Amino acid sequence: MKILAIETSCDETSVAIVEAWMGTHNIPKFKILSNIISSQIALHAQYGGVVPQLASREHLKNILPVFEKAIAKAGIKKTELAKKIQLLAVTAGPGLIPALVIGVDFAKTLSWITQLPLVPANHLEGHLYSPWLSHGEEIKFPALHLIVSGGHTQLIHMKDPFKYKLLGETRDDAAGEAFDKIARLLSLPYPGGPAIDKAATNGNEKAFNFPRPMIDSKDFDFSFAGLKTAVLYLVKTMPEHERILKINDIAASAQQAIIDVLIYKIQQATKEYKIKTIMVSGGVAANKKLRAQISQTTQLPTFFPPPELATDNAAMIAMAAYFNFTKNKEWPFESVKAMPNLRLNVSQ
Ligand code: KG4
Ligand code: ZN
Repeated sequence: MKILAIETSCDETSVAIVEAWMGTHNIPKFKILSNIISSQIALHAQYGGVVPQLASREHLKNILPVFEKAIAKAGIKKTELAKKIQLLAVTAGPGLIPALVIGVDFAKTLSWITQLPLVPANHLEGHLYSPWLSHGEEIKFPALHLIVSGGHTQLIHMKDPFKYKLLGETRDDAAGEAFDKIARLLSLPYPGGPAIDKAATNGNEKAFNFPRPMIDSKDFDFSFAGLKTAVLYLVKTMPEHERILKINDIAASAQQAIIDVLIYKIQQATKEYKIKTIMVSGGVAANKKLRAQISQTTQLPTFFPPPELATDNAAMIAMAAYFNFTKNKEWPFESVKAMPNLRLNVSQ
């Protein structure tokens, strides 16, 4: 079946057309026909973070042109939607409510006009299934998935493609949020992750011994707020000229503290649950040092989504929707709504 999916949970307006079918051994397979992403990063950068009302206004402006580009790229005319597409999907949450409602309203209008069924998708399930496109058949179970984005840091145990449970998550800031806040303290541009990643390549990660919060806790939870405070104190007590000189060392040391905690928890969970495959997704999965060090510290196959599926996009929403649709064919129109605090639906 062909799925048309819409994503507007944060600062990317995206529409994708994805072909999905059930492969052998009950493993869904996917082919992306189009995945158009319009990013608002440049707009929000001047404010140092995403401004929800501005995001909403931009989604409203962009959704129709992005939709038109997506169907054109997939070779579908507006008048043939109901014939060529079998399922519509939209991100219901989690995310910013003024942003989510634009996608949800657009999807409901499309569904109403075309009479095509509409399936809501959890944005986090989108990240969870984002490595499927390129590695679906290589993933062995039980698998471990680390979602590391600007809003979430979650460690998930997958018993099979359809059953997963949350092992742990952050108690305060997400890993991406820590990168963004630390970058701000260092006067590096937004988004902070890529800026710290770049600065760290010229820095010494042993220059400052920042805390590794909750590394010794016996659970799989995370906490990054204390690390940000440690960087704040260091920066406050340093003369400005010294801070400027040491910026790369601070970036490298703070980055290493985040990576050490993420990798330690992956290793603990891998041992405890006899994990066979590791997956990492979300914006922070783009971090060069994190990728290299995860691969160095494990013998297990480790999969990351391809770059175009690493940050927010609608193709991963189509994939999550297909998993939902194979489990449940009936999604009442009225139940599809924006749910800013939607949690992962533990199914194991
Ligand atoms: O998944 P994503 O695009 O959006 C959310 O759903 O949050 O993740 C964005 C986050 C931002 O916090 C950004 O700073 C971080 O991912 N990020 C990185 C890198 N690229 C993006 N963090 C560390 N290193 C990177 N190279
Ligand atoms: Zn995301």
